[in-house]
Amino acid sequence: MVEYEKIKKIPYGGDYNPEQWPEDTWEEDMRLLKLSHIDIVTLNVFSWASLQSDDDVYHFEKLDKIMELVKKHGMKVCLATSTGAHPAWMARKHPDILRVEATGMKRKFGSRHNSCPNSPTYQKYAMALASKLADRYKNYDNIVAWHISNEYGGECYCENCEKKFREWLKEKYGTIEEVNRAWDTAFWGHTFYDFEDIVAPNHLSEHWSNDRSTFQGISLDYRRFNSESILNAYRLEYDAVHTITPDIPITTNLMGTYQPLDYQMWARYMDFVSWDNYPANDTPVSGTAMRHDLMRGLKQGKPFALMEQTPSVTNWLPYNMLKRPGVMRLWSYQAVAHGADTVMFFQMKRSIGACEKYHGAVIDHAGHENTRVFREVAALGAELERLGSQTLGARSDARAAIVFDWDNWWGISYSAGPSVFLDYCKEVERYYKALFDLHIPVDMIGVEDDLSAYDLVIAPVLYMVKTGYDEKLRAYVKNGGRFLTTFFSGYVDEHDLVTVGGYPGKLRDILGIWVEEEDALPADMHNAFHYKGRTYPASMLCDLLHTEGAEALAFYEKDFYAGMPVLTKNAFGKGFGYYVATQSDDAFYREYLGEICREAGIEAIMDAPEGMEVTRRVNKNGTFIFLLNHGEEAQVMAMPFAGTDLLSGKAYKEGDALTIAAKDVAIVRLST
Ligand code: GLA
Ligand code: ZN
Repeated sequence: MVEYEKIKKIPYGGDYNPEQWPEDTWEEDMRLLKLSHIDIVTLNVFSWASLQSDDDVYHFEKLDKIMELVKKHGMKVCLATSTGAHPAWMARKHPDILRVEATGMKRKFGSRHNSCPNSPTYQKYAMALASKLADRYKNYDNIVAWHISNEYGGECYCENCEKKFREWLKEKYGTIEEVNRAWDTAFWGHTFYDFEDIVAPNHLSEHWSNDRSTFQGISLDYRRFNSESILNAYRLEYDAVHTITPDIPITTNLMGTYQPLDYQMWARYMDFVSWDNYPANDTPVSGTAMRHDLMRGLKQGKPFALMEQTPSVTNWLPYNMLKRPGVMRLWSYQAVAHGADTVMFFQMKRSIGACEKYHGAVIDHAGHENTRVFREVAALGAELERLGSQTLGARSDARAAIVFDWDNWWGISYSAGPSVFLDYCKEVERYYKALFDLHIPVDMIGVEDDLSAYDLVIAPVLYMVKTGYDEKLRAYVKNGGRFLTTFFSGYVDEHDLVTVGGYPGKLRDILGIWVEEEDALPADMHNAFHYKGRTYPASMLCDLLHTEGAEALAFYEKDFYAGMPVLTKNAFGKGFGYYVATQSDDAFYREYLGEICREAGIEAIMDAPEGMEVTRRVNKNGTFIFLLNHGEEAQVMAMPFAGTDLLSGKAYKEGDALTIAAKDVAIVRLST
């Protein structure tokens, strides 16, 4: 998928589980998949039980046949290692493979994603299986990627993990005194005298619910440890296959804003990012867009794979609404518009049993091609063939960035106070949505990423400022950058220890303010502020701040802090630090960010009506403008540039009107 010479077009396909069906049905599946222009299948995702029936007993005959079958039909393979669910015999014989939940409950065999990442059995057999697969299938030149395990996630609190956690802490802190300092254990007399005193933070110890902890320091470190433990399990398999097939790129399918795993760290060990896009019923289009950009940002803008989406319907939401006609195509192109170089589904064929039998698939239970979903999949497949390779490898050229940081997310979620309404992802989404509505491209970046390509960097709720990050921001702003942050920022370091001397801690000089207090409002109570002739709400959290060099641009209207600043702008070096002291509404963010972008010289891709999504990707073939109509009505817009729509073939001169029907898409390649 990163090897473009092997890929002549956007790979189209997804999870296919023929091992769940009688062999005499496979040829008919192939006929149907070919008919829908599918050219890649993800195989072997959940077959561990059939591949290994005892410690040293393996059976590859069925997979051999499947590999031959898809090769014969000219399909590419994304080959999974099958370690997302361990076999029942393994759980019975080697109970160390079973996880312990946050409640302290030891699991029995069942479900999936159920292995303890630190279990010696799991590690040994997962690695062994990965190497055996690589060795057995290394000569298949149609394998275009490895898919390690599946949607890694969850947590384990077993005794083995607890022991490993102590080792991890020793490695990180060296001495128990350092641990005590980092976690501020003088509070509530928690001083540890020995690493052996330390137990896993869960419902049996520091937690009273999954993200409510009496000691944030230990809980944060456990999150890091857990994410790294699972990453380590992934890396063992990575190394096992990489040694044998060094030229086949390796990935594992991520899940967007999935909290337990620090994907920014994970991505360093992935050859390319892939992810599974399942918007919930209430996910706004901009929320999906943000997640695509977040996934693209994990590898500094390198194109990613859309590994899974449903062709029609999921099975796991409270109610599973059908994707309306045209929406599967629209959302497939939305992924491509944000940097995907594949369009893939879960799944090729609906199973007959268990919890996913009502999940959408290309081949429905009806078993033939005469379904709406099949027709839509086939039509998109034919269209992607016509589109060819043109957009492959194209990148974003955004000049605005939004910072997203997993440690910061964990810190905010674990924080006792100031408000249970504070949701990091939702706050980030507010800022993202404003730029999305303004048709201004954004990169989602991490705190490790370089800032020099950006004229504006927005870090909503940057609660945790890790050592050195303030220096990076300071240098960026001094050099002419614009940096914006919000309430509840700069409070703590990477250990969740408060930076004393006044909030926002190490960001004070950049922002030219001091936050003295923070008021958390109930959901139905709002303050307000005036800005440029309009009144906007101030909700959830309201900082009571003093300027220390910054200019105040708006003030609270009500309560005992009426007249205190709510928006500030501070000239710092050649750049500016902006502060938004409260949560407001979409109209405000659009207005304010629009203004800052104008000041920074950041332009919208083009003017387009509300409900239209506009993105841009650039590669050696040219510049591509993606126009997606998510609304229910056709939209007409004036083209600010000349170009050709690669989907309809229509050519446009500058100033021509372009009409896009409801749920339709155009990919305009600019004329050079
Ligand atoms: C995930 C998994 C798949 C399947 C789908 C269903 O993305 O990776 O195996 O369970 O969800 O939506
Ligand atoms: Zn464990």
